[in-house]
Amino acid sequence: MARKLVVGNWKLNGSLAANEALLAACEALAGVDMAVCVPFPYLAQVASRLGGMALGAQTVSEFQSGAYTGEVSAEMLAEMGCRYVIVGHSERRALFGEDDATVGRKAAAALRAGLVPIVCVGESLSERDAGRVMEVIGRQLDAVRESIGAQGLSRTVIAYEPVWAIGTGRAASAEEAQAVHAAIRRQLAKYGAPAAEIRILYGGSVKTDNAQALFAMPDVDGGLIGGASLVAQDFMAVCRAAITGD
Ligand code: PGA
Repeated sequence: MARKLVVGNWKLNGSLAANEALLAACEALAGVDMAVCVPFPYLAQVASRLGGMALGAQTVSEFQSGAYTGEVSAEMLAEMGCRYVIVGHSERRALFGEDDATVGRKAAAALRAGLVPIVCVGESLSERDAGRVMEVIGRQLDAVRESIGAQGLSRTVIAYEPVWAIGTGRAASAEEAQAVHAAIRRQLAKYGAPAAEIRILYGGSVKTDNAQALFAMPDVDGGLIGGASLVAQDFMAVCRAAITGD
């Protein structure tokens, strides 16, 4: 896949003033698709200052409406101008009890509203050490497939985010990432999904000094960027590293 996608995941960071400063120094570049996934209260602010980037949220309710205090529906996100929503980030799985089936339902909710779910999968360090990388990721993908089918998968983005690489400064090597991305693509093909057309992003300590090597891998279609997306010049440098010729 030629054109890459780089998505900033701001997590629980930002303020009106900080967002303003960050966005003033960011703008969409030719030759790469760019998006920022921001906290709910800032969607309107960021929507008006995107500079050609796309907007996304970091999670979504599986429900459409009703007595679900505190929840935010995919329809609301779409109405606020979102194109993307992250589902199944490992922090949501580990800290907020989201299981595989919930992640599948959230992906379905996103698709129902016309959003593109960015479905996060990835193994912990102990699972990697035990040689269970694809067993874990296969299980995570199976649940999403059960919920949205191969047809739904064709409208998603997958993000491979090894838990041990997130926020640790220890990214997967380009070769480690490539091996898992290729295996994920094979799994998508087994489901009957158009695997070659589904973007598979890498996330976990992507920085200015390793982005180029990661994005050079044939099955790495872009990145999901946490810490480095909060510093304008770093985010722009990571995005520049993802520029392809067309
Ligand atoms: P990081 O986070 O780039 O800070 O490691 C990535 C993510 O959690 O999406």
